[in-house]
Amino acid sequence: MKKRLFSGIQPSGDVHIGNYLGAIKNWVRMIEQYECIFCIVDYHAITIEYEPKEMQRRILNAAAVNIAAGLDPNRCIIFVQSHVAEHTELAWILNTITPMGHLERMTQFKDKAKQHRENINAGLFTYPVLQAADILLYKGKAVPIGEDQVQHIELAREIARKFNMRYGETFPEPQEVLSEAPRIMGLDGKTKMSKSLGNYISLVETPESIWKKLSTAVTDENRKRRTDPGNPEICNLFTLHKHFSKKEQIDRINVVCRSAEIGCIECKKILSENIVEALTHIRCKYEQLIKNSDQLSDILHAGAKKCKDIANSTMAEVKKKMGLV
Ligand code: TRP
Repeated sequence: MKKRLFSGIQPSGDVHIGNYLGAIKNWVRMIEQYECIFCIVDYHAITIEYEPKEMQRRILNAAAVNIAAGLDPNRCIIFVQSHVAEHTELAWILNTITPMGHLERMTQFKDKAKQHRENINAGLFTYPVLQAADILLYKGKAVPIGEDQVQHIELAREIARKFNMRYGETFPEPQEVLSEAPRIMGLDGKTKMSKSLGNYISLVETPESIWKKLSTAVTDENRKRRTDPGNPEICNLFTLHKHFSKKEQIDRINVVCRSAEIGCIECKKILSENIVEALTHIRCKYEQLIKNSDQLSDILHAGAKKCKDIANSTMAEVKKKMGLV
């Protein structure tokens, strides 16, 4: 029996190559090793101000991109949180055993409360409880996340422990899985690649657009002229080469950049070709899924159905132990 893994995916608009290298690519690898459940967390997303007209597109987009990037619905479960009502049902129950003091300590809450002063709602405060419910509903043991979510998983463990002590052994304590996520800088070479800064290459970017973005991307800024020797160590695009180019190409660039045998344009062309090659099948699969919304919706409903079965049995056990029959 494989260990069960659970992770949540924010339904944010565009997914970029930084997200791919930092998270999705690792998840795809984990499908071999774990029984994987991936959840598009729309109920989490509504804790901050959003445009209702855009939400459906964001949810379907997140599903399509992640499936296209390798979360194959034949080999893992992918579904939408709000399709399985037991998430919020269990969250309510867990709210009753979660101390306010623990939630007040959450750094993400403090950050978001600062960012969204005009909308500090109770959902934002109990966000980590819903996250704990997501995981515990499936008795998930492994949770792949980024560094910023570790505190939430610690809290999920405490909540599991507290429930088990109060009502009897029910939930395993979930463990975070941190994979060394490369820090991918944006095309400005200065700040982390991010959606809001617009310094990114989308996972479904067209070849023309990939080239357009790369052609103006910042390289080694000390290299002013074509004849100046370059320094790959401080060139952001060399980092991207390390992720997208072949070993021989990387080794060669490492030499011919330093000797100025190759200029930045030529170097960018090689990178562009390799990124295009890596992303083409993802983009094609994505476009096919987005066009064929019935197929996408079938996938998500099939995923939710499998989750419902597991969720129902956990909720029956939980209610019985709590005396709620
Ligand atoms: N809070 C997570 C994030 O912002 C998303 C998330 C929701 C999640 N539920 C989860 C992650 C359960 C892991 C497990 O990235």
